[in-house]
Amino acid sequence: MSTTQNQFDKKSEAWSARFSEPVSELVKRYTASIFFETRLAPFDIQGSLAHAEMLSHVGVISAQDYADIQKGMAQIIDEINRGELQWQLDLEDVHLNIEKRLVELIGDAGKRLHTGRSRNDQVATDIRLWLRAEIDTSAELLLQLRKALATMALEHHATIMPGFTHLQVAQPVTFGHHLLAYAEMFGRDYQRLMDCRKRVNQLPLGAAALAGTSYPIDRERVAKTLGFDGVCRNSLDAVSDRDFAIEFCAATSLVMTHISRLSEELILWMSPRVGFITLADRFCTGSSIMPQKKNPDVPELARGKTGRVNGNLIGLLTLMKGQPLAYNKDNQEDKEGLFDSADTLRDTLTIFVDMVAGIKVKEDNMRAAALQGFSTATDLADYLVKKGLPFRDAHETVALAVRECEQKGIDLADLSLAELKAFNNAIEEDIFKVLTLEGSVSARNHIGGTAPIRVKAEAERILAE
Ligand code: ARG
Repeated sequence: MSTTQNQFDKKSEAWSARFSEPVSELVKRYTASIFFETRLAPFDIQGSLAHAEMLSHVGVISAQDYADIQKGMAQIIDEINRGELQWQLDLEDVHLNIEKRLVELIGDAGKRLHTGRSRNDQVATDIRLWLRAEIDTSAELLLQLRKALATMALEHHATIMPGFTHLQVAQPVTFGHHLLAYAEMFGRDYQRLMDCRKRVNQLPLGAAALAGTSYPIDRERVAKTLGFDGVCRNSLDAVSDRDFAIEFCAATSLVMTHISRLSEELILWMSPRVGFITLADRFCTGSSIMPQKKNPDVPELARGKTGRVNGNLIGLLTLMKGQPLAYNKDNQEDKEGLFDSADTLRDTLTIFVDMVAGIKVKEDNMRAAALQGFSTATDLADYLVKKGLPFRDAHETVALAVRECEQKGIDLADLSLAELKAFNNAIEEDIFKVLTLEGSVSARNHIGGTAPIRVKAEAERILAE
């Protein structure tokens, strides 16, 4: 055995031959990433196996080396799954921990694995492989959430509630229509994630430390083995940029923003003051002091976690902005925020698919609320326009009628025909159909409108996707 071989066997650091004094325990902890990145291990092994297969294919290592590496890695996967692999701080990160164990298990073949590779292209590959899997999981959950909303929308395509602007009663809408607004948002979120996936799914391996490698590597072969759509076209860029992670965090922030808006509504709707819905007990908790309380903890936390997810995005953007090419250790700080955003996204979506499906609707309360606040006033104005009045004049006439009703404490539909005629003589008996909640929503019968027939068709379209 040569001296350099002995270094890697005996000392923990892969580069230790170069140094004359050890780092302190604190510096070790400060510079290590092992304790927050073990989730990358299966992807690290997957990447290593593809790299080794390619090295043996082009003749840089022997077929026997590759077979040994496969065998060693299979055992390491087993050890990880059984929780037996002891992750060592001394070995700094997941890459060196796995490599060290491989060398322990298979000797020299293990030491040949790192030929033509650096931890810089290795870690970039691991993150992309892991993130691709996360995107696939969360994108699928977004589709499920969209379907859960559409299922509920179908059931409530004709359930009337007040639609709000400025949180004031504006016009009646159907509850189904309201839910489908969120289905639209989550549909765009899905597209954003899938678009981000295209840029995540490019192979950095082969970039080595920064400049590429002098071995006759076949990057396209590795890309194919790992299911990447292509290879990163510039080695400096491949090891250094984390824009794909930033994009994912941005897309996640938008999903969570939509989740947070929905949460805010669920919380409001569940307030006894509003009383539009109840959430299943399994998403709520009680109070330790007030026995009557049922608190919507899950939507509140989702709303709160959105802040942290936004913070992760800003963290990554800030991490990147000052870095010269190529790899800098700063990039090790990409992981915790990214992992946190991905975990939060996955967990939140999983819970929301179930929670949305379990919403109990209090239709009578929704209807009663829609009857307050003159929600059909615009319908009266539109009626007058159809009788020939310019819209602005119609608007003015209805404003006067609303004022009178307000003084009398009644609704527009409670005025008699004679009273209505006093505002405008063109008003006929048919006005009473227009002033009903059903008449109002049914009249909005166009693509994107709240007419029950449209809401039903839209919900069915989404469910058939
Ligand atoms: N743990 C490192 C990271 O997460 C791996 C790459 C280390 N490369 C290096 N040159 N120190 O980025």
